[in-house]
Amino acid sequence: MVRKPRETFGSRMGMLLAMAGSAIGLGNIWRFPYMMGKNGGAAFILLYVIMLVVLCLPVMVSEYLIGRRGESNPFSSFDRLAPGSKWRWIGFLAVLASACILSFYCVVGGWSVKYLADSCILAFSDEGDYALSFGSFISNPWKPLLYTLIFLALTGAIIVFGVRKGIERMSKVMITMLFVIIVMVVVRSLTLPGAIEGVKYMFVPDFTKVTADTCIAAMGQAFFSLSIGCGTILTYASYVKKDENILASSAWVSFFDTMFAIIAGLAIIPAVYAIAYMNGVEPDVSAGPGLVFITLPGVFSQMPLGNLAAILFFLALLLAAVTSAISLMEVVVAFIIEEMHRSRKKAVALCFLVCGVVGAFCSLSFGPLAGFKLFGLSVFDFFDYITSNIMLPLGGLLLAVFAGWRLRRANFLDELTNSGKLRIPRWLSLTIYYLVKLVAPIGILLIFLNTFFS
Ligand code: TRP
Repeated sequence: MVRKPRETFGSRMGMLLAMAGSAIGLGNIWRFPYMMGKNGGAAFILLYVIMLVVLCLPVMVSEYLIGRRGESNPFSSFDRLAPGSKWRWIGFLAVLASACILSFYCVVGGWSVKYLADSCILAFSDEGDYALSFGSFISNPWKPLLYTLIFLALTGAIIVFGVRKGIERMSKVMITMLFVIIVMVVVRSLTLPGAIEGVKYMFVPDFTKVTADTCIAAMGQAFFSLSIGCGTILTYASYVKKDENILASSAWVSFFDTMFAIIAGLAIIPAVYAIAYMNGVEPDVSAGPGLVFITLPGVFSQMPLGNLAAILFFLALLLAAVTSAISLMEVVVAFIIEEMHRSRKKAVALCFLVCGVVGAFCSLSFGPLAGFKLFGLSVFDFFDYITSNIMLPLGGLLLAVFAGWRLRRANFLDELTNSGKLRIPRWLSLTIYYLVKLVAPIGILLIFLNTFFS
């Protein structure tokens, strides 16, 4: 059988925006602000950045390197770099983890479709009880299910078009729109009277809130937000040309992603503060997962130009979610195409079916299946927990161990410098090498053990 040449990204900018699109997602807009709200504001940002540089950047470089060198889905990439070894099952686990994440991710993606639709029909008014309406929406047996499937179908519709025409083209358009929109929302938020208190909260650290749990939370958040640990970056990197700079690309994507999380925080937190002061109540930014879907509609309903801000905000949320969901689906789709020899269309259909069914269980776990528990957690929380807190850090650990110990040092450095064509100073490439080989695995392991024994 003649193998069709593998697709690649068309341009460097397209590749960077696709990766940034994967990283920038619900993790930045929905998860980061409330994690920051719960864990001491600026202190959390600081810890997050430390985790990012010391643990996550090395893992991202490893994933990138394995994908570009392996030129295949996670399963086969490992197999090509270490033929016949057990490592390919790690690749298989990564594919599984991606499917698990996609299954609960598309539920929240569905909520954002619904909130965008609501804001377009101007459903947010002063008198609304948003906690109540959010609660009754997500516990409805079929409505959120419908939105979940709409979101998943949207994702599939992009993936069907392949790497260049689907992923790359849509990421370029959507990420550009996303930046423009979020900046508009930030301007609205910052120009509200009293917004400055929210800004202070974000940038003046409160170290009294930092505990061992904060470190774990910061690591989990960093892994999730950067899309590392389950083969997403690996799969995208397998479509990257050989002359790209692995280190620079990884650094750019991490930088974009962090900047965006902070910008999303600036869109949300100052507005929450301003409206709370207007109402004479204490601002509560630690509202947890409800921050975006409960607190914000209330905030939008009370501010001038709030309707427009709501439409823009939920559109941004949806765009961000879609560009991330396509990266998760592509891991599974690439695996099905290359290992099970199916067409792209069939692979997308299969993935839609499987994630749709699992996603349905996640969605129903807020309503009719609320009483059904796995290890004491609802189906949704179970998938969220095992992926973010166990599979991703474990995946990251194994990726770094593979790149640092299983690949030869010469090959690692060769790949990092594109066989010496890139002028990366020797001390820098060696630093990266030892971060990958020693610092990242040990660091992740320590934090991991800490979670289990505390
Ligand atoms: N990083 C995305 C976000 O912040 C979600 C995501 C996409 C992801 N691909 C991933 C998370 C792979 C973990 C692993 O929303």
